[in-house]
Amino acid sequence: MKIINRIFHYVVMSASIVLCLLLLYQTSSRHFLNFCICNCGMDSEGSQWFSQRYNSSARVLLNRQNHAVDFNTFWWWRSLQNESNAANYTKVVEVLFDHFPDKRHHLDHSPSRCRSCAVVGNSGNMLGSQYGALIDSNDFIMRMNEGPTVGYERDVGHKTTHRIIYPESAVDLEDQTHLVLLPFKILDLQWLISIFTTKHIDQTYMHVRPSIKADKSKVMILHPAFIKYVFESWSQNVGNYPSTGFISIILALHICDEVSVFGFGSTHDRVWHHYFDDFGLGSNDGPHAGDFERSVIAELHQRRIITMYKGW
Ligand SMILES: *[C@@H]1O[C@H](CO)[C@@H](O)[C@H](O)[C@H]1NC(C)=O
Ligand SMILES: *[C@@H]1O[C@H](CO)[C@@H](O)[C@H](O)[C@H]1NC(C)=O
Ligand SMILES: *[C@@H]1O[C@H](CO)[C@@H](O)[C@H](O)[C@H]1NC(C)=O
Repeated sequence: MKIINRIFHYVVMSASIVLCLLLLYQTSSRHFLNFCICNCGMDSEGSQWFSQRYNSSARVLLNRQNHAVDFNTFWWWRSLQNESNAANYTKVVEVLFDHFPDKRHHLDHSPSRCRSCAVVGNSGNMLGSQYGALIDSNDFIMRMNEGPTVGYERDVGHKTTHRIIYPESAVDLEDQTHLVLLPFKILDLQWLISIFTTKHIDQTYMHVRPSIKADKSKVMILHPAFIKYVFESWSQNVGNYPSTGFISIILALHICDEVSVFGFGSTHDRVWHHYFDDFGLGSNDGPHAGDFERSVIAELHQRRIITMYKGW
């Protein structure tokens, strides 16, 4: 009798342990006993492709502690816009965080978090799409450069929680919007300080706005090493450096759990232009490997890591 009791005890113990491990596994993969709660599409082949590119410890945002860059990264980054007479990077960064929040914005991953993000590009395929309500239903709505909402709400939505800019593309921001600086040179970091203080920098390789309307307490700065990581891991070193749109999508993969992508690519009749002007983009991608980036974005969609909305 005693032996049977003991066997029974062990069986119950082992069953509990197996069940606990199972629950832990299910939770950590955002599935709960096959009832998926977030980002449910990716299969195992997709996750292998993804994990070859995605580095969860990549430095995403710059802060006072993590700013140091190795020699290679620094020179790669510095060569992007061939900056001459640059200030001392370390000294500029030390001053930066006297002005801006020095914290790990949004990097609060947890199995129970399900943050949805819309990355809204500036393609003419947004016109007539009527995506506005769908875009606004996301937790974060990330736009880039000058892409406006006023006058285009039905197609692109009202809200902007994050706007990714650099000095040459800066516009006034709404009160609730995070300014996300994509720096390509040390002067861009100095410009960021200047627009909130002395307002004296109005020239980079072209005229730039010496001040913009933005909330200083919501400023985020992408890490130079993040740009290099996107270039190496995601662009596979193709082109000179990744485009703002491509960097924004990878940023979303790092701070969001579900990513929807709008306003990339051409219109249905293969016209390339912005939704807000007639400026023909042609197929000239400048320093960016547009075709390669588009193939990676298509693959992210196909593997159900993001959802791509093609527009009209
Ligand atoms: C991921 O990023 C970290 C931090 O930058 C780096 O040390 C590490 O080597 C990277 N891992 C891979 C596989 O590239
Ligand atoms: C920087 O210099 C390199 C080599 O001299 C050149 O290929 C590249 O186009 C330049 N980039 C810019 C942004 O001027
Ligand atoms: C930049 O400033 C830092 C800290 O003040 C100093 O240690 C470093 O040597 C300087 N670098 C250059 C290239 O002057």
